[in-house]
Amino acid sequence: MAHSEWDGDFDPMADPDEQKHVLSVLDSFRSYRRLAHFNGTHVRRQAFYSLPSEHWILLSKPPFSILDSLSRLDDLIDSNAELADAIFIAGFKAFLAPTLDSEWVASIVPEKYAHDEFKVYSTVMDHLDVQTTQTDMEKARSCVHQFYREWSAEGAVEREKCFDPVVQSVSEEFASRKKVSPELDRSDVKVLVPGAGLGRLVFDIVRAGFSVEGNEISYHELMASSLVLNHTKKAGEFNIAPFVLNCSNHLNRNDQFRIYEIPDLHPGAELESAPENSRLHAFERMSMAAGDFCVLYSREDSREQFDAVATVFFIDTAPNVIRYIDAVRNCLKPGGIWINLGPLLWHHASRRQCSGEETEGEAKEPSHRHLDKGIADPGSVELTDEEVIALVSHLGFAIEQHTTETISTGYISNPASMLQNVYKPSFWIARKKV
Ligand SMILES: C[S@@+](CC[C@H](N)C(=O)[O-])C[C@H]1O[C@@H](n2cnc3c(N)ncnc32)[C@H](O)[C@@H]1O
Repeated sequence: MAHSEWDGDFDPMADPDEQKHVLSVLDSFRSYRRLAHFNGTHVRRQAFYSLPSEHWILLSKPPFSILDSLSRLDDLIDSNAELADAIFIAGFKAFLAPTLDSEWVASIVPEKYAHDEFKVYSTVMDHLDVQTTQTDMEKARSCVHQFYREWSAEGAVEREKCFDPVVQSVSEEFASRKKVSPELDRSDVKVLVPGAGLGRLVFDIVRAGFSVEGNEISYHELMASSLVLNHTKKAGEFNIAPFVLNCSNHLNRNDQFRIYEIPDLHPGAELESAPENSRLHAFERMSMAAGDFCVLYSREDSREQFDAVATVFFIDTAPNVIRYIDAVRNCLKPGGIWINLGPLLWHHASRRQCSGEETEGEAKEPSHRHLDKGIADPGSVELTDEEVIALVSHLGFAIEQHTTETISTGYISNPASMLQNVYKPSFWIARKKV
């Protein structure tokens, strides 16, 4: 990414509450392996052996071989944990390492760990006496699964539905502007992607030649996107089994145990060799800003900075969507476009962080409130699509396109599952009035 891994004007480690939260997020990735083994197999083995003995003996034999399946589940948890460990290491280096006294670290880490990054950082975490929270553990788990949507070849099914229409709309906007200003370069078109998740849409728009700033509030997503965008060494570096911890609705064990290579391509190499469709190199056109969208982009220094804002599965994270509309209007240049694609699964109401992921547990909203004036504001409201469109029009935009019912997509959905959550997201483009 350009210059530094994250922009934004706050130092999370300077604020004690924020520091506590960063440590909890780091610990949630570090604890993924242990907790997934405990909840995924240990608890299930105990329940299995609690069955009447003739029943568990029957189910231990082919064609059921449930104990073999639990062993396979353990292996796949380890595979997922490789990714979680790598996120922990990348997050530790980015957020915590710069704040530590190296002499103190050397004094607490046994010599034999010196060449094992995970063990060094883990020893530090033990000394800091960090305890993650239930919410952060669930978020770490769903973050690992989210790699399936954003960074697996098979996730292209969801990305084609959710991200491609956005990239295409930015390209069409560029083409129409170029007719009026032939000297316009793709790098001149500045796009903001709030709620950037694991950064794939940011990456795809950069690959199309444009300049992009991603914005994300969640440390889980920031650490994980940093790993994939900045620190992966090759395509297929990790293998994840996103559906392995959910034992319901499978037609057969192969479906449950299916593994996916992550990432489907090597972001660094792709950007290095990106087509020369822009005057600026891809690395100079990509950045990520950490913090609350409402706070960062309502400020005076964000005023009229962007030609396009692209929100995908995002606006329903707002307790008060007027705050989001105001922030988009503030940061868009006059005549700029807001491209939106998503359902309206109002997060504060459903208390789910990411829309509709098929998980066993309920993913809760983030507990942290850093600079979160938008989220910490009193009150909330859940609008219909029709009402959102009316509001956007009322608050200074002209709706140029609006379609519903044409896109049908899952969100981290297992196509082989007997349970399918299907969204028919609304897609619209609104232009800020001059
Ligand atoms: C449902 S996920 C969508 C992720 C991605 N756009 C996609 O379509 O896969 C919503 C994202 O918005 C982020 N988010 C929620 N509230 C935010 C806020 N106020 N500012 C910035 N990001 C926020 C969440 O952390 C999460 O990564």
